[in-house]
Amino acid sequence: MAPYTVRWGIIATGGISKQFAKDLLVDPSSRDVSDVKHEIVAVGSRSVESAQSFIDHLKSAKPEDSWSWGVQNGLLDGVKAYGDYHGVYNDPSVDAVYIGTPHNLHHRNAKDALLAGKPVLCEKPFTMDVEELDELISIAKEKNLFLMEAVWTRFHPIAYAVQKVLDSGRLGRPKRFAADFSGDAKLDATGDRMIDPELAGGALLDMGPYPSVWAMLTLHHDKHNKDKDPKVITSHQTIYKRTGVDANSRWVVQWDGLCQAALLTDLENSGLKEATAVVQCEEGDLCIEYPPWRPETFHLVPRPTHHVGSIKEKETHQVPCHPGNNGMSYEADEVARCLRDGKIQSDRMPWDESRIVQGWFDVVRKNGDSVLKDYKGQAGQ
Ligand SMILES: NC(=O)c1ccc[n+]([C@@H]2O[C@H](COP(=O)([O-])OP(=O)(O)OC[C@H]3O[C@@H](n4cnc5c(N)ncnc54)[C@H](OP(=O)(O)O)[C@@H]3O)[C@@H](O)[C@H]2O)c1
Repeated sequence: MAPYTVRWGIIATGGISKQFAKDLLVDPSSRDVSDVKHEIVAVGSRSVESAQSFIDHLKSAKPEDSWSWGVQNGLLDGVKAYGDYHGVYNDPSVDAVYIGTPHNLHHRNAKDALLAGKPVLCEKPFTMDVEELDELISIAKEKNLFLMEAVWTRFHPIAYAVQKVLDSGRLGRPKRFAADFSGDAKLDATGDRMIDPELAGGALLDMGPYPSVWAMLTLHHDKHNKDKDPKVITSHQTIYKRTGVDANSRWVVQWDGLCQAALLTDLENSGLKEATAVVQCEEGDLCIEYPPWRPETFHLVPRPTHHVGSIKEKETHQVPCHPGNNGMSYEADEVARCLRDGKIQSDRMPWDESRIVQGWFDVVRKNGDSVLKDYKGQAGQ
């Protein structure tokens, strides 16, 4: 049977949209996929010049670039450049819209796309608060349209491999969890969106989705977990004084009857190479190596004390993404399969799990003292 094809419209021409667009153009067979494929039919930007230069950049792929396969095989043929986003939402040739704008525009852009009748894949963090997210979910339900947060890491081969080890029962019950996404961004020397309050900058919203994704994949999905509404029990933010956003955020989540997770994100210090996320279990520890957004290696590590579990020797598992792939093709394949199967949400990245993480961010933000503390999202507007 011919593969199911999704014709994508891309919203915004920034860094992550470029990565995503390139991954749409990589040969699906290079990641062992034959049931779905992707085309790019429209690019929307605040300026038509930027949309056109985005397209020109894609088309200028050199033979050694992995996305040149898509250019050579016509996946960009006929792509249109729009000088606004509505052109893409209203283009009848667009099957699904990808949104790669700054955080505080996600709700507006996703809402406009849904109201125009388009399925949506929206970058993380999904929205600015749970109210905004609930509004998007209710529009998606009402219009019977697919909607998903683009938490690409969920779809990486290593995410399934880590869960397989935990599901096997070899490590026993999780007892404790910690995860960190940090990087020294040299804040005093930068003016970019990461620290711009006008673009909802700060560590929490930008980087917080990554420690969260590992907590969700390991603890929330653990077979021993019965708590479907894990809550933040304490949090702290350190404020970057020049712009008032959070330079770091720490929060502890409780899964009642299972364990606690300590989550950290920091724009002023480097992360931990061998332990970006650690699930400590009865029989040993599962340690995932940096970077949390696209790790390739995890270890099973014996206990250091006399209470040794059944893991006696360190074991290393390497599970990279397929070569030539930035790691974003997998989430696009998920969207394609959901559209093909008539689903409006993904089983792998369901709305209620986006809501849980969005809810943590709301609590941490409100407990803190950043300029976004009292930020009210635009639900209803
Ligand atoms: N999944 C991931 O790994 C990942 C990685 C990085 C970022 N992200 C997420 O993706 C989103 C975009 O991040 P990015 O790094 O791609 O940002 P970026 O490079 O700054 O690009 C953002 C784009 O949004 C558009 N935009 C619309 N209104 C804007 C405004 N007022 N100011 C600035 N840009 C505006 C611009 O495109 P036009 O001018 O073409 O309209 C701009 O190029 C963020 O929400 C971020 O959290 C995800």
